Amino acid sequence: MELKFLMILFLATLLLAPVSSASVAQQNTYSTFVKTSCSSVTYSAVCLKTLLPYASAVKTNPLKLVNVALYTTLRSANATLITVTNLSKSKQITKWESAILKDCIGHIKDSMDEIKDSIKAISRLPKSADKHFVISNAQTWTSAAITNENSCLDGFADGKISSTIKKKIKNSVVSLARVSSNALYLINNLTV
Ligand SMILES: *[C@@H]1O[C@H](CO)[C@@H](O)[C@H](O)[C@H]1NC(C)=O
Ligand SMILES: *[C@@H]1O[C@H](CO)[C@@H](O)[C@H](O)[C@H]1NC(C)=O
Repeated sequence: MELKFLMILFLATLLLAPVSSASVAQQNTYSTFVKTSCSSVTYSAVCLKTLLPYASAVKTNPLKLVNVALYTTLRSANATLITVTNLSKSKQITKWESAILKDCIGHIKDSMDEIKDSIKAISRLPKSADKHFVISNAQTWTSAAITNENSCLDGFADGKISSTIKKKIKNSVVSLARVSSNALYLINNLTV
């Protein structure tokens, strides 16, 4: 497979036009794989937007797709953490709001640790003798991360929080919960 691809690439270099047509065909195969994988997740549009840019790295490998989905989740959690931390430092917030934001920061940090644990579990999959156990661990960590994200959101259900803060946090955490949910779906769909 690899060798055949290299041969095609080599032959293609001899004639410039086939270079682009060969790589375009590959690119289409890789994009189709991500599109097909994203078509069944709960948040398809989010899945496409976040994962399609990595199509050429993922190729047609479901495990690589899960890996990219988890790293995307980690980056999204980090962005949320920065947003919430920044808001918590504002002088304009009340003590009550400050407490809710601090509580949320704790949940998002826990969520990031759990996503990292899920990434670690997934990285052990290729060499593992008990692949079902490894996948089950990754599912557990990712589900725990989603629970923490929702716990952060629950804090903002209260009427005592300003609508500006609520809106900012909600946008950030809801989009994090969506990429997390997609990652979990892709993990659930791994076949071993
Ligand atoms: C989180 O974001 C900060 C600032 O952009 C960056 O320095 C750090 O490496 C990020 N961490 C992760 C885990 O993405
Ligand atoms: C941090 O918050 C301030 C207002 O408190 C805002 O002007 C700024 O854009 C925020 N920065 C980030 C990275 O969210």
